[in-house]
Amino acid sequence: METPNLIPERDLGSLPVLQAERLGIDFGGLTAVDDFSIALGRTEISGIIGPNGAGKTTIFNLLTNVYKPTRGTILLDGVDTANKSMVQVNKMGIARTFQNIRLFDKMTVAENVLVGFTNAMSSSLVADILRLPSHWRQEEEFRDRTLSLLDIFGMRGLADETAGNLPYGAQRRLEILRALATQPKVLLLDEPAAGMNPNETEELMSNIQLIRDEFQIAILLIEHDMQLVSGVCEGVAVLDYGKIISKGTPEEIQNDPRVIEAYLGKQVGVR
Ligand SMILES: Nc1ncnc2c1ncn2[C@@H]1O[C@H](COP(=O)(O)OP(=O)(O)O)[C@@H](O)[C@H]1O
Ligand SMILES: [Mg+2]
Repeated sequence: METPNLIPERDLGSLPVLQAERLGIDFGGLTAVDDFSIALGRTEISGIIGPNGAGKTTIFNLLTNVYKPTRGTILLDGVDTANKSMVQVNKMGIARTFQNIRLFDKMTVAENVLVGFTNAMSSSLVADILRLPSHWRQEEEFRDRTLSLLDIFGMRGLADETAGNLPYGAQRRLEILRALATQPKVLLLDEPAAGMNPNETEELMSNIQLIRDEFQIAILLIEHDMQLVSGVCEGVAVLDYGKIISKGTPEEIQNDPRVIEAYLGKQVGVR
């Protein structure tokens, strides 16, 4: 099915930052994703929703070169990412968070952010830093950049805490900041509100918008919380059995009978 893209008017004058054309991947006999096309405007916030097992995380794995697509192409800022490694594709401008948080638990909050910065550095500098853990602390620049990133989520005071000791919501926020430290053009968030309480979710929503406004980047998120999706997403693609079954504004997709049916009559808006 050909579906329209939903690039906001303000982004129409420039090349979409991310274009996936008819992406598909098969795992043995299982087609996990098929015919997935999307174009993301440079400052667009959009979402992918769909029942469990629909293929949402697999799309992120394709976009970040964790998996090689069986079919289709991905252009990041106009450049084909086929045959690039995960690290290369991150350097090209795509960063993500994971459905299950992946932080360096024993490292401090600030060190976790530093790991993000290192992706944009030369490998010799990374080697220096890894050899001498104290090295970067003297580097005013990194300290300042780390602290100002932590400020986004009001986490400056936690800079020297052990990441693994943070409450769950704070770990999720830290993972977003680490991804941002790689200076992406596109930020992919896999269920960022999972496990958050309503207050934290509310705060996350305004922070997602703040990140877009401040960094002028595109954000594509996977989320079950329709309140979050309706609150921040300009466009939504609904996935079912690996295929896009509906695309539109949050309001449009919630009223689409195909979407309601995919959720087996369950109200889409109910968690
Ligand atoms: N590496 C893999 N090998 C085999 N099957 C996989 C692999 N990764 C994902 N799948 C399958 O692809 C389908 C989509 O999974 P996933 O993308 O994680 O769904 P979602 O994130 O929408 O819940 C599921 O049936 C899952 O079991
Ligand atoms: Mg998933």
